[in-house]
Amino acid sequence: MRQPEPYLTTIPPVIAALTDYEPYARARLDDNAWAYLHSGAADEITFRANREAFDRQCLQGRALVDMRGGHTRLNLFGHAFEHPILLAPVAYQSLFHPEGELATVRAAAAMDAGMVVSTLASHPLEEIASHAYAPLWFQLYVQPDREFTLDLVLRAEQAGYQALVVTVDAPLAGIRNREQRAGFRLPAGVSAVNLQGMRQSQTQLVEGQSVVFDGLMAHAPTWRDIEMLRAATQLPLILKGISSPLDAALALELGVDGLIVSNHGGRTLDTLPSTLELLPAIAATTQGRVPLLLDGGIRRGTDILKAIALGASAVLIGRPFIYGLATAGALGVAHVLRLLRDELEVAMALTGCRTLADITPAVLIANNT
Ligand SMILES: Cc1cc2nc3c(=O)[nH]c(=O)nc-3n(C[C@H](O)[C@H](O)[C@H](O)COP(=O)(O)O)c2cc1C
Repeated sequence: MRQPEPYLTTIPPVIAALTDYEPYARARLDDNAWAYLHSGAADEITFRANREAFDRQCLQGRALVDMRGGHTRLNLFGHAFEHPILLAPVAYQSLFHPEGELATVRAAAAMDAGMVVSTLASHPLEEIASHAYAPLWFQLYVQPDREFTLDLVLRAEQAGYQALVVTVDAPLAGIRNREQRAGFRLPAGVSAVNLQGMRQSQTQLVEGQSVVFDGLMAHAPTWRDIEMLRAATQLPLILKGISSPLDAALALELGVDGLIVSNHGGRTLDTLPSTLELLPAIAATTQGRVPLLLDGGIRRGTDILKAIALGASAVLIGRPFIYGLATAGALGVAHVLRLLRDELEVAMALTGCRTLADITPAVLIANNT
């Protein structure tokens, strides 16, 4: 069996961009963890589309603009952020480095990056929060046991999380053939520790009932749960995984405070469009009434600029920071954030944008997404 390479303690100059981390991560992960990390749903068409959409969109350069006093600061849900790059919720981070989420939260603190902690984190949400010095949000998967779900929300509030991100695009696991082919399973010692003690639901199917509709989806969240959560928490409520303008409109009616345009990094429903393509119609629906965030395929500072130009306030990254984590723990995650922020600032300077507010559709060459 292949021996995983040791974690790096310094970052070599050959790692100059986010994608440079990918082979380093691969060399340090076994086939099981790699299949989980890299997998998209089915034929991975959406997974690839997320990137391709950014690559197709060209930028309009601007020359001779005075950039002094420029910055990347923004305000989201009443909190100040130094830059618009957040770490997306990624489950079971101890699969990728023994320190898991604890390494990630230290890197987020060092780089002033917001972090979203998954319901399926491999460390207790309170322990992660005790290391946080930058905005921290909690990502909720609504559980079949609704009482337990509300208790999780309360725990997150009490631990100081500043927003609740409810993921709505994965009521059941997508069909991830890459994982299936690798026979993926969680290794001993890695588990969803925050769900310990939860009552397990057991749906007994009778003849003629569907495993999907009557089984896996029997306790899946609906809009009623969003109403219930809206009433249950004072925290800003953000829905993650919105891909339809109709859903965006419903969310606004229910008093949701923000949306994350996401296709789960191409991991749930294959052949959904890229998130960059989804964004304009959702922005047209929400009309600036709530912040829109976007994730999926962000690998370059120019990608962030393009997302903001089409209506996003901020973006999240998933796999890239895990590549950094798997390569060099907290140092790797911090370096990924540093690279991306530097690239964003350079892209802003070369398109004549002193602040995020200056990033408008005018930075894009029209009609080629
Ligand atoms: C290994 C892995 C685990 C993930 N776990 C979660 C999760 O627990 N909750 C969630 O809302 N999204 C989860 N996601 C989706 C990410 O939050 C994010 O939407 C996606 O990774 C963004 O695409 P990118 O990886 O191309 O940056 C996960 C993604 C990956 C790759």
